[in-house]
Amino acid sequence: MAPCLLRCIVLQLFLLSNAQHYLTVHPVDPVVSTGESIQLNCSINCPLGTVAWKGLDIFVDKQYIAPGYSVQTLENISISMDGTKHCEGTCPGHRKAYQKSLQLHVYALPNTLLLSSDMKNGIHYLNCSMELVYPLPEISCYKGSKLLDERTDNEILDGDLFNITWSWVVPEEDWLSDAFYWCEAQVHVNGQVFKREGTLYISEGIHT
Ligand SMILES: *[C@@H]1O[C@H](CO)[C@@H](O)[C@H](O)[C@H]1NC(C)=O
Ligand SMILES: *[C@@H]1O[C@H](CO)[C@@H](O)[C@H](O)[C@H]1NC(C)=O
Ligand SMILES: *[C@@H]1O[C@H](CO)[C@@H](O)[C@H](O)[C@H]1NC(C)=O
Ligand SMILES: *[C@@H]1O[C@H](CO)[C@@H](O)[C@H](O)[C@H]1NC(C)=O
Repeated sequence: MAPCLLRCIVLQLFLLSNAQHYLTVHPVDPVVSTGESIQLNCSINCPLGTVAWKGLDIFVDKQYIAPGYSVQTLENISISMDGTKHCEGTCPGHRKAYQKSLQLHVYALPNTLLLSSDMKNGIHYLNCSMELVYPLPEISCYKGSKLLDERTDNEILDGDLFNITWSWVVPEEDWLSDAFYWCEAQVHVNGQVFKREGTLYISEGIHT
C-alpha cells in the first residue's frame, strides 16, 4: 500500500505543479482598425519560461523575446492579419508545451457615409455609399422618421475591403416635396459597434 500511496502523491504533486503553469495573453481578443499598431504580450508564470508567438504570415516582423514573456508588435495592421494568433511556451524542467491563443479582430471604417440622389430610366433613387469598409456594415435609412425598406445592395471588393452602395427607389411624389433623409451604417466587430451617419436634404422641385 505504502509505495502506491507515495507514487500517487508524487503523481499528484507532478500534476499540480504542471497545472499551475499557464500562459497569459494580453490584450484578450483585441479589436483594431486598419493602419493601427498593436503589441501582443504573451507570458508564462514559471521562472525562466520560454514563450514565442507562432504564425508564418505576420510574425516575421518584430518580436521581442525575454525570459518569461514575448511581445509581438504588429504595425500598419491590415485585414489579412485578422484571425487567431497562437503563443507557445515551455517551463524549464517540464517537457509539456503550453499554448494560448487570441483573436485579432480587424476592421476598416471610412469617415464618410455619402448620400446622393440619382435618376436612371425615369426612376429616382436615394443612394447611400461607403468606400473601403470591412466588414460589411448594417445600414438603416430614414425619410424623416420613417424607416425605408426594400433596398438593393451593390458591393464590389477592393482588395480585402468593400465599396458598397445601397439604393432605395424614391416615389415621384416624394421627390417633388421637401424631404430630409438620413442614414446610419453600423460596423459590428466582436461585440463592438462603430457608426457613421450621413444626411441628404432634397428641396422641393429639384430634379436630378
Ligand atoms: C509583458 O508581460 C510581462 C509579464 O506580465 C511584463 O513583465 C512585461 O512588462 C510586459 N511587456 C509589455 C511590453 O507589455
Ligand atoms: C500600410 O499598409 C498599406 C497597405 O495595406 C500601405 O499602402 C501603406 O503604405 C502602409 N503604410 C506604412 C506606413 O507602411
Ligand atoms: C473603391 O473606392 C475607392 C475610394 O474611392 C476607389 O479608389 C477604388 O477604386 C474603389 N474600388 C473599386 C474596385 O471600384
Ligand atoms: C444609384 O443606385 C442605382 C440603383 O442601384 C444605380 O443604378 C445607380 O448607378 C446609382 N448611382 C450612383 C451615383 O451610385
